[in-house]
Amino acid sequence: MIDILNYGAINLAMAIGYRTGLFDVMDEFDSPQTIDKISQAAGLNSRYVTEWLGVMTTAEITELSLIENAENRYFLPKNWGDLLTRRAGNSNLGVYTQEIPLLTRCAMAAVIDGFNTGEGISYDHYPKFQVFMSQLANAKHRQVLVNTFLPSVDNGRIIQQLESGIQVCDLGCAEGVAVILMAEAFPKSHFVGIDISPEVIDEARRKARQQKIENLDFLVLDAADLKSKREMKGLFDYVTAFDAIHDQTRPLDVLRGVNHILTPNGRFSMVDIAAHSNLADNMTHPMGPFLYTVSLMHCMPVGLVGGGTGLGMMWGREKAVEMLRDAQFQKVQVLEMPDDPFNLHFFCSK
Ligand SMILES: C[S@@+](CC[C@H](N)C(=O)[O-])C[C@H]1O[C@@H](n2cnc3c(N)ncnc32)[C@H](O)[C@@H]1O
Repeated sequence: MIDILNYGAINLAMAIGYRTGLFDVMDEFDSPQTIDKISQAAGLNSRYVTEWLGVMTTAEITELSLIENAENRYFLPKNWGDLLTRRAGNSNLGVYTQEIPLLTRCAMAAVIDGFNTGEGISYDHYPKFQVFMSQLANAKHRQVLVNTFLPSVDNGRIIQQLESGIQVCDLGCAEGVAVILMAEAFPKSHFVGIDISPEVIDEARRKARQQKIENLDFLVLDAADLKSKREMKGLFDYVTAFDAIHDQTRPLDVLRGVNHILTPNGRFSMVDIAAHSNLADNMTHPMGPFLYTVSLMHCMPVGLVGGGTGLGMMWGREKAVEMLRDAQFQKVQVLEMPDDPFNLHFFCSK
């Protein structure tokens, strides 16, 4: 229990260190430094930095150098910097320390109410969390989407098609990070980004205009209604959904809608969390408690709104495959993601 209390506290203090840039500042130093030097470099108040260093040092993240008749000095070893700083790129786990504190701030009271009422929680509760998720997606898609993920799809065949010109739809596109990157990389293809939220689509349109991307349109639409849109039947050669199916209120309708809008030879790439549907099979998942908590605090309640299905983030590959089959996909392959151990690629043929 003491470890649990300590780790919870350390996560919170690390989130503050990440947000204020203290890890990045300390990572720049090659030798231990005084509190004044660290505070000055970070532009932060030294009394607050002192208390924060108390957490980091007792947690054995920063090292304390005691020098006789001189002030204490503190050092962040480089191997911590490799995981905690903005320079760490794809290995940056520091950014995730913000996730639980943010969700606590957005939804703790509403989630506790949910235990009594069983009701869902709308996206309006989570504006700060949505901004954070968007930053995360930005970092991830920029690094892997065009150079690593798409070349891996269907043994490179999708890239060939994208280069020669096809119709592509990205579902739950949010602020359009992924679909803008794809439209930019494949000017002969035409792209449509769909999201239910008018606010995120406004932002996506603004970004696309700013970057002068013309082979791209955005639609505000509930993806669960796609299957009733006759004018969209068989319109797309390729549909993508990145991290956008598990928190749907009507996921099966969405998957049937994807099938409806695909051409007869169309393909669907659903990228979603790597887990099993059966709790007992997740006992060795390295981030089981963390991911179930994010699901409890966000994915499940947003999926329960209006009597929704509320799959939660840990719906798992078995349930995902079952639903894809129910949605009449003929072939469903479950593939590991290059450079991304936390997600799976469900590659489906109509
Ligand atoms: C976790 S975000 C995924 C963002 C994006 N695909 C990415 O990887 O950066 C899920 C998105 O799905 C959208 N969404 C949720 N329900 C939807 C629905 N029924 N139809 C369309 N979009 C929906 C949300 O507004 C949100 O922007």
